[in-house]
Amino acid sequence: MTSIREHWQKVYDRRREDEVSWHQASPITSLDLISRTGAGRDARVVDVGGGASRLVDALIEKWFEHVTVVDIADAPLELARKRLGDRASRVTWVTSDVGDWAPDGPYDVWHDRAVFHFMVRPEDRAAYLSTLRSALRSGGHLIIGTFASNGPDRCSALPVMRYEPETLAAELGPDFRLLEGVRAEHVTPAGKVQQFQFSRFVRI
Ligand SMILES: C[S@@+](CC[C@H](N)C(=O)[O-])C[C@H]1O[C@@H](n2cnc3c(N)ncnc32)[C@H](O)[C@@H]1O
Repeated sequence: MTSIREHWQKVYDRRREDEVSWHQASPITSLDLISRTGAGRDARVVDVGGGASRLVDALIEKWFEHVTVVDIADAPLELARKRLGDRASRVTWVTSDVGDWAPDGPYDVWHDRAVFHFMVRPEDRAAYLSTLRSALRSGGHLIIGTFASNGPDRCSALPVMRYEPETLAAELGPDFRLLEGVRAEHVTPAGKVQQFQFSRFVRI
């Protein structure tokens, strides 16, 4: 049976960065929400399941000196490193399942676009939440983008959970206070429209 890591490794081995359905030329909703955290240049920011996303380009270009990208597969991280060239050395790259990652100290901002929604098994959500709790400091901000309740029920041939800000808040529990929830439409490279929700929380 193909492991989750092998699945993602193959996905990125077979396609260009801008051919995957979740590709965004510019991650505007994520950047808007991150700007509203008020985090300063010296904040520590992690993009979990960041893959080959271009979010990291904008984060190091404009705003932050300490950016970490975690992904279960090395192939997407390699794509991102190639794209960034010399600038890749300004980023900490971690190849790990988010549930197994041992964070190197507290983070101020945790960003996740289209990763938590793959956690369909309670034990995977529990492992994710355990890492999140050990990584994000009290007062730190959590931003999670998932398919919304009227979004697709699969992505990359895998089943996903769909959320609204309130159902996500219930899943995360009382350690995280919901500050805002926004809707976003993502148009895939093939022209399909997908409904996302993005929620921003503060760690109590
Ligand atoms: C749909 S893609 C989204 C990528 C990126 N966040 C973006 O918005 O372009 C999901 C990403 O999560 C990664 N991933 C899936 N399960 C993971 C896990 N358990 N731990 C860490 N990364 C994971 C995949 O390798 C893939 O890069």
